[in-house]
Amino acid sequence: QTTALMAGAIGKDGYRHYMEKELHEHPVVIGQTLRRFVNPVTHKIELPDMPFDLKTLKRGIITACGSAFYAGVIGRYWLEEVARLPIDLDVASEMRYRNPPFDKGGMGLLVSQSGETADTLAALRALKQAGQNIISVLNNEHSSMARESDLVLGMDAGVEIAVASTKAFTAQLTVLACLTLVMGQERGTITSEYADECLTALLDLPSRVAEILQMQEQIQKMAHIISQVQSVIYLGRGIMFPVAMEGALKLKEISYIHADAYAAGEMKHGPIALIDNTVPVISLLPSGSLFEKTLSNLQEAKARGGRILVFTDAKGAERVKGIAEQIVILPTVHSFVTPPLYTVPVQMLAYEAALLKGTDVDQPRNLAKSVTVE
Ligand code: AGP
Repeated sequence: QTTALMAGAIGKDGYRHYMEKELHEHPVVIGQTLRRFVNPVTHKIELPDMPFDLKTLKRGIITACGSAFYAGVIGRYWLEEVARLPIDLDVASEMRYRNPPFDKGGMGLLVSQSGETADTLAALRALKQAGQNIISVLNNEHSSMARESDLVLGMDAGVEIAVASTKAFTAQLTVLACLTLVMGQERGTITSEYADECLTALLDLPSRVAEILQMQEQIQKMAHIISQVQSVIYLGRGIMFPVAMEGALKLKEISYIHADAYAAGEMKHGPIALIDNTVPVISLLPSGSLFEKTLSNLQEAKARGGRILVFTDAKGAERVKGIAEQIVILPTVHSFVTPPLYTVPVQMLAYEAALLKGTDVDQPRNLAKSVTVE
Protein backbone atom coordinates (compact mmCIF):
# COMPACT_ATOMS: atom_id res chain seq x y z
CA GLN A 1 0.00 0.00 0.00
CA THR A 2 2.90 2.37 0.68
CA THR A 3 4.00 2.05 -2.94
CA ALA A 4 0.41 2.71 -3.99
CA LEU A 5 0.41 5.79 -1.79
CA MET A 6 3.71 6.99 -3.22
CA ALA A 7 2.81 6.11 -6.80
CA GLY A 8 -0.63 7.64 -6.37
CA ALA A 9 1.00 10.94 -5.50
CA ILE A 10 1.50 11.57 -9.19
CA GLY A 11 -2.19 11.66 -10.14
CA LYS A 12 -5.45 12.72 -8.50
CA ASP A 13 -6.93 9.22 -8.94
CA GLY A 14 -10.21 10.69 -10.16
CA TYR A 15 -10.62 13.12 -7.28
CA ARG A 16 -11.25 16.82 -8.06
CA HIS A 17 -8.24 18.00 -6.08
CA TYR A 18 -5.19 16.52 -4.39
CA MET A 19 -6.70 17.70 -1.11
CA GLU A 20 -9.83 15.63 -1.72
CA LYS A 21 -7.68 12.59 -2.57
CA GLU A 22 -5.52 13.11 0.50
CA LEU A 23 -8.61 13.47 2.72
CA HIS A 24 -9.66 10.04 1.48
CA GLU A 25 -6.23 8.64 2.30
CA HIS A 26 -6.71 9.29 6.05
CA PRO A 27 -7.75 5.67 6.79
CA VAL A 28 -4.87 4.08 4.86
CA VAL A 29 -2.32 6.48 6.30
CA ILE A 30 -3.46 5.95 9.90
CA GLY A 31 -3.31 2.19 9.36
CA GLN A 32 0.08 2.36 7.60
CA THR A 33 1.58 4.52 10.34
CA LEU A 34 0.26 2.23 13.08
CA ARG A 35 1.66 -0.83 11.36
CA ARG A 36 5.04 0.87 11.45
CA PHE A 37 5.02 0.77 15.26
CA VAL A 38 2.70 -2.08 16.25
CA ASN A 39 4.16 -5.57 16.44
CA PRO A 40 1.52 -7.77 14.73
CA VAL A 41 2.48 -10.76 16.87
CA THR A 42 2.61 -9.19 20.32
CA HIS A 43 0.03 -6.46 19.52
CA LYS A 44 2.39 -4.12 21.37
CA ILE A 45 3.71 -0.74 20.25
CA GLU A 46 7.46 -0.83 19.67
CA LEU A 47 9.41 2.40 19.23
CA PRO A 48 13.10 2.84 18.40
CA ASP A 49 15.40 3.34 21.40
CA MET A 50 14.98 6.83 22.86
CA PRO A 51 17.98 9.14 23.45
CA PHE A 52 16.97 9.38 27.14
CA ASP A 53 15.51 7.24 29.91
CA LEU A 54 11.71 7.51 29.59
CA LYS A 55 11.29 6.68 33.28
CA THR A 56 13.46 9.52 34.59
CA LEU A 57 12.70 12.10 31.86
CA LYS A 58 11.69 15.32 33.66
CA ARG A 59 10.18 17.48 30.95
CA GLY A 60 9.34 17.72 27.27
CA ILE A 61 9.18 20.74 25.02
CA ILE A 62 6.96 20.57 21.94
CA THR A 63 7.31 23.02 19.07
CA ALA A 64 6.19 23.23 15.43
CA CYS A 65 4.31 25.55 13.05
CA GLY A 66 0.73 25.75 11.76
CA SER A 67 -1.18 22.48 11.64
CA ALA A 68 1.89 20.59 12.84
CA PHE A 69 1.83 22.80 15.94
CA TYR A 70 -1.81 21.89 16.59
CA ALA A 71 -0.83 18.22 16.35
CA GLY A 72 1.83 19.05 18.92
CA VAL A 73 -0.74 20.68 21.20
CA ILE A 74 -2.80 17.49 21.09
CA GLY A 75 0.42 15.59 21.84
CA ARG A 76 0.87 17.82 24.88
CA TYR A 77 -2.57 16.92 26.25
CA TRP A 78 -1.85 13.23 25.72
CA LEU A 79 1.68 13.24 27.18
CA GLU A 80 0.67 15.26 30.23
CA GLU A 81 -2.55 13.34 30.86
CA VAL A 82 -1.41 9.81 30.08
CA ALA A 83 2.37 9.83 30.61
CA ARG A 84 2.32 12.55 33.34
CA LEU A 85 5.20 14.34 31.58
CA PRO A 86 5.28 18.15 32.08
CA ILE A 87 5.36 19.76 28.64
CA ASP A 88 6.36 23.24 27.52
CA LEU A 89 4.78 24.29 24.27
CA ASP A 90 5.26 27.13 21.82
CA VAL A 91 5.09 27.82 18.11
CA ALA A 92 8.55 27.41 16.59
CA SER A 93 8.72 31.03 15.40
CA GLU A 94 8.60 32.06 19.07
CA MET A 95 10.53 29.12 20.57
CA ARG A 96 13.55 29.85 18.36
CA TYR A 97 14.03 33.28 19.99
CA ARG A 98 13.11 32.45 23.58
CA ASN A 99 16.44 31.00 24.68
CA PRO A 100 14.46 29.06 27.29
CA PRO A 101 16.12 28.26 30.65
CA PHE A 102 15.40 24.53 30.28
CA ASP A 103 17.40 22.00 32.27
CA LYS A 104 19.62 19.94 30.01
CA GLY A 105 18.58 16.39 29.11
CA GLY A 106 14.90 17.09 28.41
CA MET A 107 12.99 15.97 25.31
CA GLY A 108 12.72 18.46 22.47
CA LEU A 109 9.81 17.07 20.40
CA LEU A 110 9.32 18.67 16.98
CA VAL A 111 6.56 17.93 14.46
CA SER A 112 6.83 18.63 10.74
CA GLN A 113 5.47 17.18 7.51
CA SER A 114 8.23 18.58 5.31
CA GLY A 115 11.10 18.62 7.78
CA GLU A 116 12.23 21.85 6.04
CA THR A 117 10.15 24.54 7.78
CA ALA A 118 12.65 27.31 8.57
CA ASP A 119 11.20 28.26 11.96
CA THR A 120 10.90 24.65 13.11
CA LEU A 121 14.46 23.85 12.00
CA ALA A 122 15.71 26.96 13.81
CA ALA A 123 13.80 25.92 16.94
CA LEU A 124 15.34 22.44 16.66
CA ARG A 125 18.81 24.02 16.66
CA ALA A 126 17.92 26.30 19.60
CA LEU A 127 16.65 23.35 21.65
CA LYS A 128 19.71 21.29 20.77
CA GLN A 129 21.87 24.25 21.85
CA ALA A 130 19.89 24.26 25.12
CA GLY A 131 20.92 20.64 25.71
CA GLN A 132 17.63 18.95 24.79
CA ASN A 133 17.40 15.50 23.20
CA ILE A 134 15.78 16.05 19.81
CA ILE A 135 13.00 13.79 18.56
CA SER A 136 11.31 14.80 15.32
CA VAL A 137 8.00 13.45 14.02
CA LEU A 138 8.48 13.75 10.27
CA ASN A 139 6.87 12.71 7.02
CA ASN A 140 10.02 13.49 5.05
CA GLU A 141 12.74 11.38 6.67
CA HIS A 142 15.44 12.68 4.33
CA SER A 143 15.01 16.30 5.34
CA SER A 144 17.18 18.84 7.11
CA MET A 145 15.34 18.20 10.38
CA ALA A 146 15.87 14.44 10.01
CA ARG A 147 19.60 14.97 9.64
CA GLU A 148 19.82 17.13 12.76
CA SER A 149 17.57 15.07 15.07
CA ASP A 150 18.75 12.53 17.63
CA LEU A 151 15.79 10.37 16.68
CA VAL A 152 13.22 10.51 13.87
CA LEU A 153 9.76 9.01 14.30
CA GLY A 154 8.58 8.70 10.71
CA MET A 155 4.99 8.57 9.51
CA ASP A 156 3.76 6.74 6.43
CA ALA A 157 1.61 9.58 5.03
CA GLY A 158 3.10 9.30 1.55
CA VAL A 159 3.60 12.43 -0.52
CA GLU A 160 1.21 15.22 0.50
CA ILE A 161 0.71 17.54 -2.49
CA ALA A 162 -2.05 19.92 -1.36
CA VAL A 163 -0.74 22.94 0.54
CA ALA A 164 -3.37 22.36 3.24
CA SER A 165 -2.20 19.45 5.35
CA THR A 166 -4.73 16.67 5.91
CA LYS A 167 -3.45 13.08 6.02
CA ALA A 168 -0.08 14.16 7.43
CA PHE A 169 -1.92 15.68 10.40
CA THR A 170 -3.64 12.46 11.40
CA ALA A 171 -0.39 10.58 10.74
CA GLN A 172 1.37 12.95 13.14
CA LEU A 173 -1.33 12.29 15.73
CA THR A 174 -0.94 8.53 15.23
CA VAL A 175 2.80 8.75 15.94
CA LEU A 176 2.24 11.00 18.98
CA ALA A 177 -0.41 8.58 20.28
CA CYS A 178 2.02 5.65 20.00
CA LEU A 179 4.75 7.67 21.76
CA THR A 180 2.30 8.57 24.53
CA LEU A 181 1.23 4.96 25.15
CA VAL A 182 4.80 3.66 25.21
CA MET A 183 5.88 6.49 27.52
CA GLY A 184 2.88 5.93 29.82
CA GLN A 185 3.66 2.24 30.19
CA GLU A 186 7.42 2.84 30.69
CA ARG A 187 6.68 5.44 33.38
CA GLY A 188 4.03 3.26 34.99
CA THR A 189 1.40 5.98 34.70
CA ILE A 190 -1.06 3.73 32.82
CA THR A 191 -1.90 0.05 33.04
CA SER A 192 -1.22 -2.26 30.11
CA GLU A 193 -5.01 -2.81 29.99
CA TYR A 194 -5.58 0.93 29.39
CA ALA A 195 -2.81 0.95 26.80
CA ASP A 196 -4.42 -2.03 25.04
CA GLU A 197 -7.83 -0.26 25.11
CA CYS A 198 -6.30 2.80 23.43
CA LEU A 199 -4.37 0.72 20.90
CA THR A 200 -7.54 -1.19 19.99
CA ALA A 201 -9.29 2.18 19.46
CA LEU A 202 -6.39 3.35 17.27
CA LEU A 203 -6.48 0.16 15.20
CA ASP A 204 -10.24 0.64 14.76
CA LEU A 205 -9.85 4.31 13.79
CA PRO A 206 -9.37 3.81 10.01
CA SER A 207 -12.83 2.20 9.80
CA ARG A 208 -14.47 4.97 11.84
CA VAL A 209 -12.76 7.63 9.72
CA ALA A 210 -13.93 5.85 6.57
CA GLU A 211 -17.50 6.18 7.89
CA ILE A 212 -17.01 9.95 8.25
CA LEU A 213 -15.67 10.22 4.71
CA GLN A 214 -19.12 8.99 3.59
CA MET A 215 -20.84 11.90 5.39
CA GLN A 216 -20.06 14.37 2.62
CA GLU A 217 -23.73 15.43 2.19
CA GLN A 218 -24.06 16.57 5.82
CA ILE A 219 -20.72 18.34 5.65
CA GLN A 220 -21.79 20.08 2.43
CA LYS A 221 -24.94 21.32 4.20
CA MET A 222 -22.82 22.94 6.90
CA ALA A 223 -20.43 24.30 4.26
CA HIS A 224 -23.36 26.08 2.59
CA ILE A 225 -24.05 27.90 5.87
CA ILE A 226 -20.49 29.02 6.52
CA SER A 227 -19.67 29.87 2.90
CA GLN A 228 -22.20 32.74 3.14
CA VAL A 229 -20.63 34.44 6.17
CA GLN A 230 -17.61 36.66 6.86
CA SER A 231 -16.44 34.98 10.02
CA VAL A 232 -16.77 31.67 11.86
CA ILE A 233 -15.99 30.74 15.47
CA TYR A 234 -14.78 27.22 16.37
CA LEU A 235 -15.11 26.10 19.97
CA GLY A 236 -13.44 23.21 21.74
CA ARG A 237 -12.64 22.42 25.36
CA GLY A 238 -9.71 20.33 26.56
CA ILE A 239 -8.14 18.24 23.84
CA MET A 240 -10.84 19.41 21.42
CA PHE A 241 -9.47 22.96 21.57
CA PRO A 242 -6.44 22.23 19.31
CA VAL A 243 -8.79 20.32 16.98
CA ALA A 244 -10.89 23.50 16.81
CA MET A 245 -7.70 25.44 16.02
CA GLU A 246 -6.93 23.04 13.16
CA GLY A 247 -10.49 23.43 11.84
CA ALA A 248 -10.25 27.22 11.90
CA LEU A 249 -6.86 27.21 10.17
CA LYS A 250 -8.06 24.85 7.42
CA LEU A 251 -11.08 27.05 6.73
CA LYS A 252 -8.98 30.22 6.61
CA GLU A 253 -6.21 28.87 4.45
CA ILE A 254 -8.31 27.37 1.65
CA SER A 255 -11.66 29.23 1.66
CA TYR A 256 -10.30 32.63 2.83
CA ILE A 257 -13.23 32.91 5.26
CA HIS A 258 -12.08 34.42 8.55
CA ALA A 259 -12.23 31.92 11.43
CA ASP A 260 -10.96 31.76 14.97
CA ALA A 261 -10.83 28.95 17.49
CA TYR A 262 -11.38 29.54 21.18
CA ALA A 263 -11.18 27.41 24.25
CA ALA A 264 -14.91 27.24 25.00
CA GLY A 265 -14.37 28.55 28.53
CA GLU A 266 -12.75 31.69 27.12
CA MET A 267 -15.91 32.90 25.35
CA LYS A 268 -17.23 34.79 28.37
CA HIS A 269 -13.89 36.61 28.74
CA GLY A 270 -14.47 38.59 25.57
CA PRO A 271 -15.09 36.66 22.36
CA ILE A 272 -18.82 36.24 23.10
CA ALA A 273 -19.11 39.93 22.18
CA LEU A 274 -18.57 38.78 18.59
CA ILE A 275 -21.68 36.64 18.59
CA ASP A 276 -24.75 37.56 16.57
CA ASN A 277 -26.75 35.82 13.87
CA THR A 278 -24.04 36.51 11.27
CA VAL A 279 -21.39 34.48 13.11
CA PRO A 280 -21.85 30.69 13.10
CA VAL A 281 -20.37 28.84 16.07
CA ILE A 282 -18.98 25.39 15.26
CA SER A 283 -18.48 23.20 18.32
CA LEU A 284 -16.50 19.96 18.57
CA LEU A 285 -18.40 18.24 21.30
CA PRO A 286 -17.84 14.52 22.00
CA SER A 287 -19.62 13.12 25.04
CA GLY A 288 -17.44 13.17 28.11
CA SER A 289 -16.57 15.05 31.26
CA LEU A 290 -16.35 18.43 29.52
CA PHE A 291 -19.62 18.07 27.56
CA GLU A 292 -22.05 19.85 29.92
CA LYS A 293 -19.77 22.85 30.48
CA THR A 294 -19.32 23.32 26.73
CA LEU A 295 -23.03 22.86 26.12
CA SER A 296 -23.68 25.81 28.44
CA ASN A 297 -21.30 27.92 26.34
CA LEU A 298 -23.41 27.02 23.31
CA GLN A 299 -26.61 27.96 25.13
CA GLU A 300 -25.07 31.37 25.95
CA ALA A 301 -24.08 31.85 22.29
CA LYS A 302 -27.54 30.77 21.13
CA ALA A 303 -29.17 33.24 23.52
CA ARG A 304 -27.23 35.96 21.74
CA GLY A 305 -28.46 34.95 18.32
CA GLY A 306 -25.50 32.74 17.41
CA ARG A 307 -26.06 29.99 14.83
CA ILE A 308 -24.92 26.77 16.53
CA LEU A 309 -23.40 23.98 14.43
CA VAL A 310 -22.23 20.88 16.29
CA PHE A 311 -20.08 17.82 15.69
CA THR A 312 -20.93 15.29 18.39
CA ASP A 313 -21.81 11.62 18.93
CA ALA A 314 -25.22 9.94 19.25
CA LYS A 315 -25.45 10.59 23.00
CA GLY A 316 -24.41 14.21 22.60
CA ALA A 317 -26.92 14.74 19.78
CA GLU A 318 -29.79 14.06 22.19
CA ARG A 319 -28.54 16.86 24.44
CA VAL A 320 -27.92 19.53 21.78
CA LYS A 321 -31.27 19.15 20.01
CA GLY A 322 -33.15 22.46 20.15
CA ILE A 323 -29.91 24.43 20.50
CA ALA A 324 -28.10 23.44 17.31
CA GLU A 325 -29.15 24.49 13.81
CA GLN A 326 -27.24 21.47 12.48
CA ILE A 327 -25.89 18.40 14.27
CA VAL A 328 -23.41 16.08 12.55
CA ILE A 329 -23.35 12.79 14.45
CA LEU A 330 -19.93 11.16 14.41
CA PRO A 331 -19.11 7.59 15.48
CA THR A 332 -18.77 7.10 19.23
CA VAL A 333 -15.15 6.19 19.95
CA HIS A 334 -12.79 5.83 22.93
CA SER A 335 -11.96 9.33 24.20
CA PHE A 336 -8.26 8.75 23.44
CA VAL A 337 -8.94 8.85 19.69
CA THR A 338 -11.50 11.69 19.51
CA PRO A 339 -8.80 14.18 18.32
CA PRO A 340 -7.96 12.39 15.04
CA LEU A 341 -11.62 11.41 14.55
CA TYR A 342 -12.98 14.99 14.97
CA THR A 343 -10.19 16.39 12.79
CA VAL A 344 -11.47 14.66 9.65
CA PRO A 345 -14.91 16.34 9.44
CA VAL A 346 -13.54 19.84 10.10
CA GLN A 347 -10.96 19.35 7.33
CA MET A 348 -13.74 18.08 5.03
CA LEU A 349 -15.84 21.12 5.98
CA ALA A 350 -13.03 23.49 4.95
CA TYR A 351 -12.69 21.64 1.65
CA GLU A 352 -16.42 21.84 0.87
CA ALA A 353 -16.54 25.54 1.82
CA ALA A 354 -13.56 26.24 -0.46
CA LEU A 355 -15.34 24.48 -3.34
CA LEU A 356 -18.32 26.80 -2.82
CA LYS A 357 -16.02 29.83 -2.72
CA GLY A 358 -14.29 28.74 -5.91
CA THR A 359 -10.80 29.19 -4.51
CA ASP A 360 -7.68 27.34 -5.68
CA VAL A 361 -8.03 24.52 -3.15
CA ASP A 362 -4.68 22.79 -3.70
CA GLN A 363 -2.62 25.97 -4.09
CA PRO A 364 -4.35 28.67 -1.99
CA ARG A 365 -3.24 32.27 -2.53
CA ASN A 366 -0.15 33.51 -0.65
CA LEU A 367 0.71 30.04 0.71
CA ALA A 368 3.55 27.56 0.13
CA LYS A 369 3.58 23.88 1.00
CA SER A 370 6.74 24.25 3.02
CA VAL A 371 7.76 27.62 4.47
CA THR A 372 11.51 27.27 4.09
CA VAL A 373 12.17 30.97 4.63
CA GLU A 374 11.66 32.92 7.85
C1 AGP B 1 -1.19 23.31 7.15
O1 AGP B 1 -2.42 23.12 6.47
C2 AGP B 1 -0.44 24.48 6.60
N1 AGP B 1 -0.15 24.28 5.21
C3 AGP B 1 0.76 24.89 7.43
O2 AGP B 1 0.24 25.40 8.63
C4 AGP B 1 1.78 23.77 7.78
O3 AGP B 1 1.21 22.87 8.69
C5 AGP B 1 2.99 24.45 8.46
O4 AGP B 1 3.57 25.34 7.54
C6 AGP B 1 4.03 23.44 8.95
O5 AGP B 1 4.58 22.75 7.85
P1 AGP B 1 5.48 21.46 8.16
O6 AGP B 1 4.58 20.45 8.81
O7 AGP B 1 6.00 21.01 6.82
O8 AGP B 1 6.58 21.88 9.09
